[in-house]
This record gives sequence, structure tokens and C-alpha cells, in this order.
Amino acid sequence: MTPTDDRTPTTRDRAPNRARFCYFRDQTPLSDTQLARARSALATVRSFMDLQKELEGDDFVTVSPLWTKVTDYAAGLVAGEKDALERLRFLSWPFSGISLLHMSTRPEVIGGQTDYTDPDAALAQFEARGLDLEMTHALDAAEQFSSILPITLPRQMGEVGWLGPHGVVNLDTIAFSERVAVMAEFGAIQRVMQQTPRQIVVEIGGGFGGLAYILKRALPGLQYVIVDLPSSMAFSAAYLSAMMPDARIAFFDGRTETAPDEEYDFLFVPHYAWDDLVQFLPRADLGLNTLSFAEMTEAQVDGYGRGLADLLPPDGLLFEQNFDDRRRGGLNVPDILSRHLKDVSPADLGPILRGVPKLWAPKPN
Ligand SMILES: C[S@@+](CC[C@H](N)C(=O)[O-])C[C@H]1O[C@@H](n2cnc3c(N)ncnc32)[C@H](O)[C@@H]1O
Repeated sequence: MTPTDDRTPTTRDRAPNRARFCYFRDQTPLSDTQLARARSALATVRSFMDLQKELEGDDFVTVSPLWTKVTDYAAGLVAGEKDALERLRFLSWPFSGISLLHMSTRPEVIGGQTDYTDPDAALAQFEARGLDLEMTHALDAAEQFSSILPITLPRQMGEVGWLGPHGVVNLDTIAFSERVAVMAEFGAIQRVMQQTPRQIVVEIGGGFGGLAYILKRALPGLQYVIVDLPSSMAFSAAYLSAMMPDARIAFFDGRTETAPDEEYDFLFVPHYAWDDLVQFLPRADLGLNTLSFAEMTEAQVDGYGRGLADLLPPDGLLFEQNFDDRRRGGLNVPDILSRHLKDVSPADLGPILRGVPKLWAPKPN
């Protein structure tokens, strides 16, 4: 798989005080092929959105209040408008809580009406502030691991920040670095490093597709399944179709899209088709869920836990990282997953900023 942005900066570029800020004007515009792939994916996602409306009322289909209308402002993206696709990463802040336009996680800074027409005017202040310690570490780490598992994202679709090897480093990639380091510490990445048979990863709640991109770039043989609300899948399906132009993209909803190409690289599945997917997949070697089970309904997490218990082989794993979200009207995920799966988390890892990491395995029969 060829990453779309493989310019590796020289050591001079990477020296902290020389690191280059990558603005929106520094983006590589989407090629006609990338645009066509994103739009083709969105046409299918829109049909999933329509079908979801018809299925409304079912316990598993009904979206939790924490995810209702969250991305409604992105109608232009869902429609496949070029300007919106070129700015997808500015629009994807609800997934991580990080806004690239504001370089912030603070709701009072991010909230409100935002004008995305000239992002560079807002970004200039962040370049002027220079690199902080965390970003310097992130650039160093991206450089050290650039040949194994680079945690950078391509300089396209609105990815702005500091230029590292193969792409950009910013607050989102810092979050992915932490997550990937914990997954490696837990043995979850090692679990899917074997190449034959092709390993199947099932990520539930894939956000804009950033973790999928990073893992698939490092382990190109993976078959990567994303299960998500269609409104969020608009982001991940458009992003991954465009950013991985050689990847085989497939869709499955057990109704209109029923027989995906078996050699798919990415399989996109609307949440309402979860039970059909459990019947369809041969197995799931690794399940993933970060910062999302806690924001779903109990019926949904229970359904995902039950389905994963069916799909995981005896040595299969689910890596999950969530907060106890009961204060916000969300869930304490382990209470529900433990009905179906066994907690096999290694000992306490110390302070982790982005949720409590946990590892689950199928219960022995
Ligand atoms: C806070 S975002 C987290 C995204 C990503 N995992 C991350 O850590 O950056 C929550 C994700 O869960 C998804 N989600 C919410 N309800 C869902 C459901 N019932 N089934 C599948 N995904 C769901 C959202 O669409 C979104 O992609």
C-alpha cells in the first residue's frame, strides 16, 4: 500500500526549532481519482443513512443521545462537496474532541459557529507559538518509529500541524501514539502481525478512520472492518478511500450490500447490520473500540459484546479504551462487556490520559 504523502523530511527539517508547520495551503489537493473514490464511497453511505431511518425504533439501531445529530453540520461532506472533502479533518473534531483549526480540546474554544473557509489565518498563531514539549516528543517518536509504525497522517484533507516523517504530527496523532503504544504493551498489535491467513480487525466506532489508516499502513495485509453509524462512516469511508487509493473498499449491510469482494482491505458496515456481520465474518482476530462504547446505549454495547464473543477465536482479543462515562449519561463499559467476555488486562499501566485501556478475551466454553 503506498501512503499518499511519503515525503520524509530531512534531519534539518525535524530538528525541533526547524520543524515546519504544515498549513492548509501546504496540502496536496485531492486528485481526481481520490475525489472519485471518496464520492463513490459516500453514495453507498448515503443509502445506509436512508435505510437507518426506516429501521429507527429498534433498540440496537436507535442512536444514543450522546451521538444524536453530532455531525449534522457536515452535510456538505456527506453530499461529497469538494471543499468539504478537502477540509474533512477540520470537520472531524467530534471524534477525538480535538479541533485542528483551534489546536485545542477545550469545548469552550471549539464550540460555536466556525468558519472553515480560510483555516490558515487561524493557524498562524500556532506556528508562532512554536513547538511545545509534547509536540517535540511526538515528532521525535514519529521519526524513531518511521520505518516500523509511523504515527503521522497524510498532508491532505485538512491535516495540519507539524511536518514529520510521512506526514503530519498534531494533537490527534499524539492521541494515536499513546493508543498504539498501549496496544503494543498489551500485545494487541502483535496478535495481528502474522500475515497468513490475513488477519481480520473489527473496529467498532472508527471515527474519521485515523487509527485504521495508521494500522493498515504498518500492516498492509490486514482486512480492516469498520462498524459505525452511517453519519460517522461518511468520514471514515471518504477518508480511507481517498488516503489509501490502492485499497479495496467494500460495504456490507446484509440487505442491499450483501456480497463484498472477499479480498477487501476495508469493509464498512453500518451499525444496524451488526448481527448480519457476525453471521457473515469467518472470525475477528482483534476487536477495537476507543472512546465510543461508553457513549452508546446499553443494548448496543451488550450486542457488540455478545457478537464479539462469537467472532473472537480462543486466542482473539478485544482492545478497548473508554472512560467511565456515567456522569455524562454514558456507560461504565466493563460492567456490560464482562457479561460476555473475560477481562485479561495486564496490570495497571499508570496514568493514561485518553481512557482506561482494557483487554478482553472470549470466555472459555
Ligand atoms: C468519540 S468517537 C471516537 C472515535 C474513535 N474511536 C477515536 O477514538 O478517535 C465515537 C465513535 O463511536 C461511534 N458510535 C456511536 N454510536 C455507535 C453505535 N451504536 N455503533 C457503532 N459506532 C457508534 C461514533 O459514530 C464515533 O465514530
